[in-house]
Amino acid sequence: MQKHSEHRRSLGKTVAFVPTMGFLHEGHLSLIREGRQLGDDLIVSIFVNPTQFAPEEDFEAYPRDLDRDLKLAKKEGANVIFTPDEKELYSEGFQTCVHLEKLPNHLCGISRPIFLKGVATVVTKLFNIVKPHVAIFGQKDYQQLIVIRRMVQDLNFDIEIVGFPPVREPDGLAMSSRNSYLTPEQRINALCLYKSLIKAKTLVENGVNDAVKIIGEVSELIRSHQETAIDYIAICDPETLVDMPIIDRPALMALAVVVGKTRLIDNILLNRDSQRLPRRGLG
Ligand code: PAJ
Repeated sequence: MQKHSEHRRSLGKTVAFVPTMGFLHEGHLSLIREGRQLGDDLIVSIFVNPTQFAPEEDFEAYPRDLDRDLKLAKKEGANVIFTPDEKELYSEGFQTCVHLEKLPNHLCGISRPIFLKGVATVVTKLFNIVKPHVAIFGQKDYQQLIVIRRMVQDLNFDIEIVGFPPVREPDGLAMSSRNSYLTPEQRINALCLYKSLIKAKTLVENGVNDAVKIIGEVSELIRSHQETAIDYIAICDPETLVDMPIIDRPALMALAVVVGKTRLIDNILLNRDSQRLPRRGLG
């Protein structure tokens, strides 16, 4: 992979990169299409990264369908689909990790303490192997995106990071490989995440700026849906992720809700130009 990228770079080609864990859906495919626009070559990686899952999490159960993924990625114009071997990527004696000091102390980092360390480490490895000029990540995983942006800046990676808005099902549910775990009934209840974002957006548009009040109303909305358990609902600074009690400037509302046994996340930027909001549904 390194030799291939070095060769393409030596010919003056721009290499774009979309890292994924596979079981591709329209969200991933949108990133791939964006990557096609941004580079001469587009490389997609498919690797379910064990180090970003805690022992009790769904690494084994994570949905996988490599044949289907290869067809989809090729159809969207990926030039190389990189599917590294777990033992090769994490060879015996592996012990070096990338850890950020502050950003992981918020949002998903609280209930999934090893997740962002695993992501930062594997993305570093993939960047060193794939050697892209530009890499595309989804804003649906907002904290992951800003952790990677921070890491790229802090560690002087010569890579441009492009964020892409969340792609949603027609009814608003953000696309996720984990949506495949939901029963039909849970799928309906999972809409509470999107409804929460709309509710918060409407409240802010109507002049409510008290974060505690908004979080209270959204919690009530979620609790009215069956089989749901709130992991977190936060209104915070979009760059530092520190809680914002009063929404007097652009703010991020992010939430994680367990529906049945499936943990889902979503987010929205509040109090800013609606043109920057996700393509479908919101905005
Ligand atoms: P994965 O969940 O497969 O997601 C791969 C990329 O697709 C991420 O950048 C993610 O934000 C983006 N994505 C997922 N759902 C999306 C949606 N509905 N709309 C837009 N983009 C979406 O995120 C990971 O894999 C891993 O953590 C990874 C970065 C590959 C490191 O292992």
